[in-house]
Amino acid sequence: MSISQVEHQSVSSATSGHVPGTSGIGHLASRGDGPILQAIGLSKQFKQFVAVDDLSFDVRQGEVLGFLGPNGAGKSTTVGMILGLIKPSSGSVRIMGTDLAGNSAVVPENIGAIIENPAFYPYLSGRDNLRAHALAAGNVPESRIDDLLKLVNLHERSKDKFKNYSLGMKQRLGIASTLLTEPGLVILDEPTNGLDPAGQREIREIIPRLAEEGHSVLLASHMLHEVEQVSDRVMIVRRGKLITEGSVDDMLRRGGYIEVIVPDVDPEQAMRALRRVPVVEQVTLEEGRLIVVAPDDSGVAINRALIEQNMFAGSITSKHSSLEDLFLEMTDEPSESVKS
Ligand SMILES: Nc1ncnc2c1ncn2[C@@H]1O[C@H](COP(=O)(O)OP(=O)(O)O)[C@@H](O)[C@H]1O
Ligand SMILES: [Mg+2]
Repeated sequence: MSISQVEHQSVSSATSGHVPGTSGIGHLASRGDGPILQAIGLSKQFKQFVAVDDLSFDVRQGEVLGFLGPNGAGKSTTVGMILGLIKPSSGSVRIMGTDLAGNSAVVPENIGAIIENPAFYPYLSGRDNLRAHALAAGNVPESRIDDLLKLVNLHERSKDKFKNYSLGMKQRLGIASTLLTEPGLVILDEPTNGLDPAGQREIREIIPRLAEEGHSVLLASHMLHEVEQVSDRVMIVRRGKLITEGSVDDMLRRGGYIEVIVPDVDPEQAMRALRRVPVVEQVTLEEGRLIVVAPDDSGVAINRALIEQNMFAGSITSKHSSLEDLFLEMTDEPSESVKS
């Protein structure tokens, strides 16, 4: 029987290697309190070109950390260094407090990564493929396979042959297979590459479930919306350097405001009404427009406060309603200048 090569885009620059075996079941249960992963001053230089430049970050236990940056920013190179597939030019990686250099076994014991070409049998069902991977991993109960098929929404199609799966289903089976050993950290590198919008959404739905199960997730992506919706924290890289890092909520607050236009009304009167709205932090007047600092979703409260005072808004517009402007601002560079 031949083994098909699923064309996963994940860990795309880490083509030279294969994540070593899958031993060590149940590490999820035995984790301590420290960060599951620490990157300390990681750098990688290819000849004259610095792909990753003094990058330091932690992945905390149980969080989804979005690793966001335009193509060529150095994400996959970083992932390759975390997996021990690419040797850092300088800096180090600690997994569960253990330095990766000289301890390559810490990777298979703690990390599940979707590798580029996980092997699945085309003529076996999704379930039987998972069983085959479970045999290789050893010590995986059948109930775990059931749970994983549910987790990735393949339970209703688990008897279908792998070769009849859509690309998105194949990708989800790949995610299930990395979870067989219950790794503490799951690394997804551009997991929705090549998928249609429905397939992308199916992957996005799975990611929070991984965190609910207790896995930490490092999600590398160049697509803001993919990261923004599912991450607890986000770090943004450009040209191998960390630009900013923080919770998604914090980032959304930074620089965001709501513009309110109330025609035919004394602006001072409108400002007084808006300042009484509990969620409103600040109101200023700029060229006839009221600039309101408040959470993104305060439009209804603002509108109601105005109506109660017999004032009617001409428009209420949320500016920077997503991280998008922030992301573009921070990574501001024309895409044609990006090496990839
Ligand atoms: N083996 C390599 N040799 C030379 N340059 C490389 C190699 N791998 C990656 N690069 C370069 O390093 C930069 C970062 O690549 P990569 O880590 O794949 O970025 P990302 O995953 O963020 O898109 C790119 O400009 C890429 O061309
Ligand atoms: Mg990449």
